[in-house]
Amino acid sequence: MNQLMKDHFLNRIDVESLVKEYGSPLYVYDEKTLRERIRELVNLLPYPWFSVSCSIKANSNLHLLGIVREEGMEADAMSPGEIYILEKAGFDASRIFYVGNNVSAEEMKFVLDRGILASVDSLSQLELLGRINPGGRVALRFNPGAGAGHHEKVVTAGSKTKFAIQEDLLEDARAIAGKYGLKVVGINQHIGSLYLDTKPFIDSVKALLRIASQFENLEFVDFGGGFGIPYRKLQGEERLDLKDLAGQLAPILMEFRENYGGDIRFKVEPGRYPFAESGAILGTVHAIKTSYGTKYIGTDIGFNVLMRPILYDSYHEIVAFRNNRLLDGQDDEKVTIVGNICESGDILAKDRPMPPLREGDIIGVLDAGSYGYSMASNYNLRLRPAEVLITLDGNARLIRRRDTFEDLLAGFRF
Ligand code: LLP
Repeated sequence: MNQLMKDHFLNRIDVESLVKEYGSPLYVYDEKTLRERIRELVNLLPYPWFSVSCSIKANSNLHLLGIVREEGMEADAMSPGEIYILEKAGFDASRIFYVGNNVSAEEMKFVLDRGILASVDSLSQLELLGRINPGGRVALRFNPGAGAGHHEKVVTAGSKTKFAIQEDLLEDARAIAGKYGLKVVGINQHIGSLYLDTKPFIDSVKALLRIASQFENLEFVDFGGGFGIPYRKLQGEERLDLKDLAGQLAPILMEFRENYGGDIRFKVEPGRYPFAESGAILGTVHAIKTSYGTKYIGTDIGFNVLMRPILYDSYHEIVAFRNNRLLDGQDDEKVTIVGNICESGDILAKDRPMPPLREGDIIGVLDAGSYGYSMASNYNLRLRPAEVLITLDGNARLIRRRDTFEDLLAGFRF
């Protein structure tokens, strides 16, 4: 446990006072870690024709997006709401790419009216875009044939997914684009979320470039996101080797550029990688009981706060503090850590070795900066937590307040 936490930002902060001041549970982000992770991505390949977008579905806190913009990332958006927030965070239309899926004509107009480029991922959406915006520009999302990811629910290429246009339909897509005078300026993919091995990604890059070579005058090819982070740190899970990935990617892209001609650009669009390790959730142990031989540690981190475990059986390392001191795992016992939601699936960690815990202890859920708050809800009418940023000078800054009871009333008409 101590080894795990040696360099972790939670170890540098006063967790007790934070929880006292901003409430429990609480999302905490570390600016230093965030900037470091972003820079690893932005510096992946040192070429002017390579750029990195941030997929803001992983985390759409306005203040964190300000940092993302400052560090030079572009962004992709999945909905008008994400575009709205990106605009508020200062992103120009030219730095936003819309990767929609099954969207309405109104939504497409919303995107086009702002001068934002949209990708479509079916022939029917290509028809729709052609009717709305004849003669316009468009990107086509293709399925490179194989996907990857930590769970079947987040594998987004291959034969079992709703996403993208199958390569066999390439000529049909070209014909529809031709019918409406649409200019296909980009080809994109996203094979799935969280791989720690470079092979599936590099294979998909080659497959997508074969597809790209069948189009003339492309301005860019976007290889999507999916770069994983090691959640099982105590078990020694290895990091994704970004250097190795870059080393494999560079010659492939350079060769393609040489053969293709023109000034074609390439992009990736990771969401999880920049934020995940920059964020943690602090919560409080409120009750402890043993039932039918299982020891339950009852906390306030329900699946309204963190959906990943109930949705994908996801694993997050969990640490505990008492009087601001990290509890050591000397005499670990296996416990099941649960939240305060009305379903038995509300389990944060099953049979997890933890130091003996007491009511009042603070627990920290690590690597929760991605798909944490962005998937949080008001289920059971629980208030979503506040979000705090530990700035570079070590101070805590509230970047989103906790929900209030008034927020629960916000949409109703009286
Ligand atoms: N591009 C597109 C078109 C995507 O759909 C996604 C994620 C990304 C990029 C970014 O993928 P990333 O780099 O974050 O893996 N809620 C799940 C992950 C869902 C990802 C969906 N799409 C989780 O908590 O694991």
